[in-house]
Amino acid sequence: MHHKYFAVAAARTALVAAIAAAFPLSASSAFAAPPEPAEPAQKPWLDRSLDADQRARLVVKAMTQQEKLRWVLGYFGHDFGKSKKHPDALPQSAGYIPGTPRLGLPALLETDAAQGVASQAGPAVRERTALPSGLATAASWDPKVAYAGGAMIGSEARASGFNVMLAGGVNLQREPRNGRNFEYAGEDPLLAGSMAGQAIKGVESNRIISTLKHFVLNDQETGRNELDARIDKAALRMSDLLAMELALEQSDAGSVMCAYNRLNGPYSCESAWLLNDVLKRDWGFRGFVMSDWGATHSTVAAANNGLDQQSGHEFDKSPYFGGALEEAVKTGAVPQARLDDMVTRIVRTMFAKGVVDNPLKAGATIDFAANGAVSRQTAEEGMVLLKNEGRILPLAKTVRSIAVIGGHADVGVLSGGGSSQVYPVGGLAVKGLLPATWPGPVVYYPSSPLRAIRAQAPNAKVVFDDGRDPARAARVAAEADVAVVFATQWIGEANDAQSLALPDRQDELVSSVAGANARTVVVLETGGPVTMPWLARVPAVLEAWYPGTSGGEAIANVLFGAVNPSGHLPATFPASEQQLPRPKLDGDPKNPELQFAVDYHEGAAVGYKWFDLKGHKPLFPFGHGLSYTTFAYSGLAGQVKDGRLHVRFKVTNTGNVAGKDVPQVYASPLSVKWEAPKRLAAWTKLSLQPGETREVEVAVEPRVLAMFDEKSRTWRRPQGKIKLVLAEDAAGTGATSVTVDLPASTLDARGRPRAR
Ligand code: GLC
Repeated sequence: MHHKYFAVAAARTALVAAIAAAFPLSASSAFAAPPEPAEPAQKPWLDRSLDADQRARLVVKAMTQQEKLRWVLGYFGHDFGKSKKHPDALPQSAGYIPGTPRLGLPALLETDAAQGVASQAGPAVRERTALPSGLATAASWDPKVAYAGGAMIGSEARASGFNVMLAGGVNLQREPRNGRNFEYAGEDPLLAGSMAGQAIKGVESNRIISTLKHFVLNDQETGRNELDARIDKAALRMSDLLAMELALEQSDAGSVMCAYNRLNGPYSCESAWLLNDVLKRDWGFRGFVMSDWGATHSTVAAANNGLDQQSGHEFDKSPYFGGALEEAVKTGAVPQARLDDMVTRIVRTMFAKGVVDNPLKAGATIDFAANGAVSRQTAEEGMVLLKNEGRILPLAKTVRSIAVIGGHADVGVLSGGGSSQVYPVGGLAVKGLLPATWPGPVVYYPSSPLRAIRAQAPNAKVVFDDGRDPARAARVAAEADVAVVFATQWIGEANDAQSLALPDRQDELVSSVAGANARTVVVLETGGPVTMPWLARVPAVLEAWYPGTSGGEAIANVLFGAVNPSGHLPATFPASEQQLPRPKLDGDPKNPELQFAVDYHEGAAVGYKWFDLKGHKPLFPFGHGLSYTTFAYSGLAGQVKDGRLHVRFKVTNTGNVAGKDVPQVYASPLSVKWEAPKRLAAWTKLSLQPGETREVEVAVEPRVLAMFDEKSRTWRRPQGKIKLVLAEDAAGTGATSVTVDLPASTLDARGRPRAR
């Protein structure tokens, strides 16, 4: 979150200091501040029988102007440039907003992020449980897995003294090289919105506030603070905004974090269309909008256009929501009612989420064993078996010898860099990797795949080679029955991958090992899609993503079949960058101040939709994922019930081991054109014993069958036929299809049937 250019930050801090000297945070501080009023005898807003709106109105009415202003200006939780951490913020944390103790309102203590309780780099990191990457959770296609992961990390946040967790990242994967793809949930709005929504709900089940971020279209890191994301508004409503809308509906997230980038001109954090029109008017959002750290650029425009709280003001050119806002309210440039609304939204959320009624308690204990198991289960559910020719997997426990090569697999598993970095219990498994500073350090969790593989095959001879010398690794591989090569790709915030190729000559390593042993398995620990020039020569490939705190055990459980893999790709793996809407990444990573536009000309045709539209064949399609068993589909039927399309079908486990399948329903219009030939319309995940058949019925989200009309702000579907394809992936593997004739329908901006 903080730019890696401390020089820039230092200059900004000097500027801030100059401005702060010229405009003290509060004009009244020029004179002795008025005495704080006494604690009120009655605090009716603490009456839990009242609803959050009533309680918020009552307490805001009791606040002084200074007390109101203190709610809209956030502080960073760590030293930054010349600015020192706020004394009351928890060390090496993300943020702090002073409360109103006089009225019984606690401070807001903020931690990052969606993989667990993160720490800013420094001498006293918190060691906490890390979930696998957001992509791994999304690859489970199981909303219950997302919820359980959120509930676990939220419990660690509360136990660590935080009542706000900056989780819920769900920027669509338009750009497979995006340095933060590992934090998000892939390329499809229905899947990503559902999974992020459940994760946020899980976090907030701990009576803390979570976020939905980054609102909106912060879909690449290069130039994120300055780039102007340009896109047709209706296309945005049917893609990134639909993901966020579904996540918000499923979670009722307490806060939305507006993004760094501009959106069709204005900065996201002062875009009246985005914040006031779409989020607050059309979607009826009653929580509060916090800025990203360094994403606030004004006082009057930001306040009037929908920003409710300036986060980490030390990153901005000025504390816009400090003295300058007080002045703006005095002059009427920002109405008093707007300041009251900003504060009401914040404290309403605190009441609604249980933050006021469930104060943080110091010294809570954390069950790291139980939480590590939640992380391992998530990793196991999200691991994607991409290839398994000749059924080389699962490995037999009677295998005589295994060569384990590369990826620091002797000591640990990789995680992604940046503000979401969780530091592991037990310390870093590998030290001294570069970059050592932001968005580093590069963190491996001390969960050794080698140790876990040895535990699975105690009688096998298991040797390790670090993979630095491909020729030596090949010799080691040649001696073994099976070679397991770990290939890693580290990505991080503010740091896009410049290519989809594996870094550090790992393609050469994999080719060399595959050349020496025909029974080679590749395990990928990547932040997102990568190309695989060696694929034809490797019989088995397992995508383990960043597998989290217990990733080593999870990988070994899948390799040996203790767990039957059931992950499916939440994002397309391209065959090459040439297939992308932007083969070359826009912007210049060496010049973060560069102003440029990203033309999202693909509109809502994101990921597999783009590949369908252009007729590109990916390396692996969206939705792809193999199992150690096989499944078959039958009996597909569609039926409109109470105004919604319901799809029924049967799934049979046609193999000889139990397994979980993710049947996917794709919809294609036959009488109109959408942005692309098909859209994911529904899916489910179910576990079947060998030979078992189960009939399932899923309801289709109506917005997925409609086009958004920006002028009328409605979702519209004309009467007509829609083809439904039930398949194992977006390429249509194992597909069966049926056509349904649907009546016309018009839905309001929130997808509700319009009153006739
Ligand atoms: C950032 C990130 C955001 C994070 C915040 C606080 O720069 O974009 O995701 O929550 O700062 O660290």
